[in-house]
Amino acid sequence: MPPDADHPEQIYVTTPIYYVNDRPHIGHIYTTTVCDVFARYHRFSGRDVFFLTGTDEHAAKVVDAAAERGLTPQQWADRNAGEFRDTFQRLRLSHDDFIRTSETRHIQRVQQYVKALLESGDVYLGDYEGWYDAGQEEYVPENKAKQYEFKSPINGKPLVRKTEKNYFFKLSAYREQLLALLESSETVDGCTFDVRPAARRNEVIQRIKDAEDVPISRTGSTGWGIPVPGDEAHTIYVWIDALFNYLTTVDIDDRRKYWKSGPVHVIAKDILWFHAAIWPAVLLALRKCNGYEWVNLPKLVYSHSFWISEGQKMSKSLGNFIDLEKIDEYVERYSLDALRFFLSAEGPLGPTDSDFSAAQFHECYNTNLVNTLGNCASRVAAMIGKYFDGKVPDPGNSKRELDGYVWPQTTGDIVSSCCAAYDAFDLYNAIDGAIGLIRIVDGFINATEPFKLAKDESKRDELSLILYQCAEALRIASLLLWPVCPDKIAELWRAYSLDINPAAGTLHELAQWGGLKPGTAIKKIALFPRLDAPERSTAAAT
Ligand code: MSP
Repeated sequence: MPPDADHPEQIYVTTPIYYVNDRPHIGHIYTTTVCDVFARYHRFSGRDVFFLTGTDEHAAKVVDAAAERGLTPQQWADRNAGEFRDTFQRLRLSHDDFIRTSETRHIQRVQQYVKALLESGDVYLGDYEGWYDAGQEEYVPENKAKQYEFKSPINGKPLVRKTEKNYFFKLSAYREQLLALLESSETVDGCTFDVRPAARRNEVIQRIKDAEDVPISRTGSTGWGIPVPGDEAHTIYVWIDALFNYLTTVDIDDRRKYWKSGPVHVIAKDILWFHAAIWPAVLLALRKCNGYEWVNLPKLVYSHSFWISEGQKMSKSLGNFIDLEKIDEYVERYSLDALRFFLSAEGPLGPTDSDFSAAQFHECYNTNLVNTLGNCASRVAAMIGKYFDGKVPDPGNSKRELDGYVWPQTTGDIVSSCCAAYDAFDLYNAIDGAIGLIRIVDGFINATEPFKLAKDESKRDELSLILYQCAEALRIASLLLWPVCPDKIAELWRAYSLDINPAAGTLHELAQWGGLKPGTAIKKIALFPRLDAPERSTAAAT
């Protein structure tokens, strides 16, 4: 549905907040990029978007990494948070805020929420004994610990038996409510909640059935973390602190509307349980507290899979790790938009992992960007240049059918299905629809052969109609591709003298057939250069 300009719908999209124990890598850049595509699409569609990313700083591994370098945790966090911020800026990611969990605005609110939960009884003091995964900073349930032979399911290191006096969150009290929410798309207690893809939702449903209360604090604090209000000997467990970032950032007057619109949390499968079970339960508990009745649940937790690299799990020792240097090589060689395109079109949005390989990147670049988008844009511009002196011809009735091509209907259908795919976070089908439209233009050119008609003066009207239709369909496809390739599409718009400002939110109006004015000047354009295939399998550039 095209949005209502007078009452724009709010869209709140978040990435996980990233640990600052190390520098950003492809995984962080991937999640942030797909959220950026989603945010840009919605802004262009006239919606009121708030896109949040940031850093998670109170983890024990930050303390360790800082100590190894003789720094305080704050110094190490400052350095790496700066690195994330700079990288995201350099990659022109369009987040509206960048939250750091060591900021006062976050700390104060987390304490208020935990205080409210202590008062309501959903957080209580108790004893905990269990198998602790130090790398993940989480306890592993008994049955899972047994299944993995008391080793970390994530990094294979031995689990540690630990007993602690802890504050607990009453997760077990929310089992039924969570199951009801996950098993139906219906409203429970005024809330809806969804986890996608469905395979991930099912995993959570299985695990919730025997969910126990979860510890949310630790003692023996290093002074790095948020103290439990009223009991400074305990620090709020990093995970609870981190999850609250989604709420603390918008829990101010003019931003609460974003929370109320139901956030979309985009994460990977590694942190599904926290987002799809613990977080909604904490929110259900908070919403029962005085003054927090407005706190509803996220609309969606979208849990993608992982990038592997050159067919194997990414690892620094294997030399297949896609770090910042490698990412820069790809950007330099292929362009930032090519990276965005590859990540969005071939990334692990579904339930299986995707392979980041130099050969696959190159293939994707050639097939979609060089041979399809780039080639069609330059082919149409070249013909209009040659036969119409670089001015869009007057088609007469631009809707007239040629060779069975019913253009307004074709573009209208593609715009609808493509936008529905973007709305559903289905970037594969959104991109497939837009690139598919360009392929239809190519097929139309091959079928109608304007280059032959140009030789016959009596076919001038037909030639005008064909080239108008090509340029117009390409213009519409470019609108659909802008969220993915904003720089290259802006370049195309400049060459096609199209004055389009995506911030004006007019995608749906602009996507109507017939928007292209006859007489518009079109210049030659070469969007994506043809490049040699990479020589080595693990490097982008040689
Ligand atoms: N700090 C926690 C998240 C707290 S959110 C309230 C954390 N941080 S992290 O730095 O480890 O980032 C994990 C996230 O990075 C994943 O959920 C995913 O979004 C992204 N990725 C990290 N490695 C990845 C891949 N190999 N592939 C795709 N994305 C991955 O967990």
